[in-house]
Amino acid sequence: MPFQTALTKALNLRVPVLAAPLGRGTDAAFLAAMANSGGFGFAALMHMPEVTISDELAEISRVTGGSFGANLTLVVDQRKRLAAALDKGVRVFSLWQGDIEPYVRVIKDAGGLVFWTIGDPKDAARAKEFGVDFIVSQGREAGGHFIGTAPTMSLLPSIVDAAKGVPVVAAGGVADGRGLLAAMALGACGVWMGTRFVASKESASHRGYKERVVAARATDLVETELFDPVGQECPHWVIRNSTFSKWEEAGRPPTGQRPGEGESISRYPNGQPVYRYDVAAAWDSMEGDWEASPLYAGSTVELIHDVKSVAEIVGEIEATAEAALDKISGSRAGR
Ligand SMILES: Cc1cc2nc3c(=O)[nH]c(=O)nc-3n(C[C@H](O)[C@H](O)[C@H](O)COP(=O)(O)O)c2cc1C
Repeated sequence: MPFQTALTKALNLRVPVLAAPLGRGTDAAFLAAMANSGGFGFAALMHMPEVTISDELAEISRVTGGSFGANLTLVVDQRKRLAAALDKGVRVFSLWQGDIEPYVRVIKDAGGLVFWTIGDPKDAARAKEFGVDFIVSQGREAGGHFIGTAPTMSLLPSIVDAAKGVPVVAAGGVADGRGLLAAMALGACGVWMGTRFVASKESASHRGYKERVVAARATDLVETELFDPVGQECPHWVIRNSTFSKWEEAGRPPTGQRPGEGESISRYPNGQPVYRYDVAAAWDSMEGDWEASPLYAGSTVELIHDVKSVAEIVGEIEATAEAALDKISGSRAGR
């Protein structure tokens, strides 16, 4: 691929493509496929119990050859998870929401790299003084939880302008090589993709959820805070499902009065119940009513027509980026 950027150099990648942390979806098998494709993926530590995190990270490290990153959502205290990850040799971290400063200090002291997901150019201006290595500019069309104040097309260049030279990765609205090229034209050094990889063969998302991503149109998405616990609300895009529809039919009541609240809808692999309105996305090994769990997805559902392997997705990104580049060069040459 003809793209060598700050991102490919820092992580030794063939393609400037990152897979976003996708709850339990980015498990060891997925992350290994990502590393083998020439890209790089992130595990979502928020969804790993503190008691199993060390073993889980050791396994991911083994199958990826250490080529993966760890994401910490700072709506809760994540110091134990950070310490466990550092102890297991993880040196690439992604942070978002909450106060990143103390976490950045610990990661930098350990010789690590920090990605910071932001949605506001005001934060871009502070990234350099915090010691952040890469900004992730998350547009408001991004699947799942979002903090973007504007869609990628206008947010990304404004973040690039404010970033004081800190390299910026584009998240939100990218599903193929045309999106990669567009993001690079807007100043990004690579892309961070979520929804496209939910519908990959290797993601641990529920197969029914993958099919819903393939079938959905952008008009099937709803913006809500329905699946967050009190005190941790952050808007998120989901595909409309039975839980959302029943809540809407009930007149959108507040927490405590929602239909079916406290009802167990399925089970995690360890037998623990999954409750209606829980934040966890539908995961392949959940048994029961997976469809009632949040089906996080963004506007790239318009571009996703089938479930493909990670290698196919990354290969297509390369091919479509090169074709788009040829087309642009052709128009410049008057061809
Ligand atoms: C199923 C799902 C789970 C996600 N979980 C996380 C997470 O745990 N941490 C995080 O930083 N971002 C998370 N995100 C958001 C992504 O990091 C990313 O910003 C987004 O998917 C990019 O937009 P796209 O879906 O249009 O590619 C999640 C997104 C999805 C679709």
